[in-house]
Amino acid sequence: MHIEERTQKEKLSGDFLRGDPITGDRYYSREFAQKEWDHIFTRTWQIGGMSAQLAETGSTITHSIGEESILMLRDEAGVIRAYYNVCPHRGNRLVKEEHKCGVKRLVCAYHSWAFSLDGVVRHVRDAEDYPQGNPIGKVQLKEIRCETLGGLVWFNMDPAAPSLREALGVVAEQLERYQSDNWVRVMWLTGTVDCNWKIIHDNFNESYHVQSLHRELGTFIDNAYQNTDFDLYKSGHNRMKMKGALPASSSRTDQVQAPLDDILRSWEVDPEPFHGRVREARAALMVQKRKLGQERGYTHYEKLSDDQLTDYHHYTLFPNISLTMSADGYQVLRPQPHPSDPEKCLFDHWFMVPKVEGVPEAATPLGMRPVVPAAHEIFGEGVESLGFVADQDLSVAVAQQRGLHSRGYQDAYLSGQEARVRRLHEVINDYIEGRR
Ligand code: FES
Ligand SMILES: [Fe+2]
Repeated sequence: MHIEERTQKEKLSGDFLRGDPITGDRYYSREFAQKEWDHIFTRTWQIGGMSAQLAETGSTITHSIGEESILMLRDEAGVIRAYYNVCPHRGNRLVKEEHKCGVKRLVCAYHSWAFSLDGVVRHVRDAEDYPQGNPIGKVQLKEIRCETLGGLVWFNMDPAAPSLREALGVVAEQLERYQSDNWVRVMWLTGTVDCNWKIIHDNFNESYHVQSLHRELGTFIDNAYQNTDFDLYKSGHNRMKMKGALPASSSRTDQVQAPLDDILRSWEVDPEPFHGRVREARAALMVQKRKLGQERGYTHYEKLSDDQLTDYHHYTLFPNISLTMSADGYQVLRPQPHPSDPEKCLFDHWFMVPKVEGVPEAATPLGMRPVVPAAHEIFGEGVESLGFVADQDLSVAVAQQRGLHSRGYQDAYLSGQEARVRRLHEVINDYIEGRR
């Protein structure tokens, strides 16, 4: 079946929302947060890192989520595996570093049990002193599901979960068209934010706020809902297709404004003739990117549709992952629940770009950066900004967290273009109440 047909088949249509209330306690109740952990975060696919970090045998990455730390590595047979990052002897955290290369054995710092990369313990001191039997060759790290897609390493703590591709459905194929397997993470930020993870993810599930919080994007992105496509899939994931290289319908300008002028020039399109008819520039840019893309080394353009060359295809993957895909880079925006406080979250912001010969730098949400793997920058330890647009989103998050405690708030009063917000909460309820 063709990808377009599958997209149609997996899309929800008609009146699919039940209208489950989005009450304030969902954002601060510890009991509710525990239910989310038990029924959702331990059962869904999560991103642990970049495949490029595990290019070599013996490379490891760790990723924390809730109280868990997940260890991912490439073993001697070349297989990427994931384990709970905990020593089965007495429960010490096994690997402390976020990324290591050239590891031959995983050695616990407490009593020096040493594990081969396939997770089996190979060295135990005083191995004869175990009345229940020598642990060597027997005791193992607890392995969990691990897969790669789009240059990312994904893990799932649920042994019975569907494969990553099944779980993503048609979204997997849509993402694969970008051929992002070898893209470089040029920005890797994490910050702690004083709000529940859903406040941030609700925000990514609507573009209604774009005209009020991100006005300056209106010179080159058309945020009008009437001109934007929203796909809500049965899987619980969503796609929003927002047109780029096109000023907001609401701006009523027919002039080429910054940064669209520079974008056009960078593809050898003279902005001058488009003054007075700016709405025709998007089509001209598509043609030019198609024409020059290959020779400039943007070989992945070949598989992209025309609209993918200029537009932003934004995904909200259930439960907490947001991907903003464009032909020239994509963002991962991910709020993770805080391990102990439902009124806080850990917010990750990554930016990935294709490796193109002769292009040493790329425009990122934090300005120009070299196309090399970025170090992890942690907010509050020298990072001033989580990215200009993300900062604008976060500027309302803490006030909303407070407001949701008010007796004056009972449920959201949502517009049609905010349907994905209600949908997120209904899918959360489906998981918690055993319908998924
Ligand atoms: S806790 Fe790891 S060796 Fe004892
Ligand atoms: Fe936003």
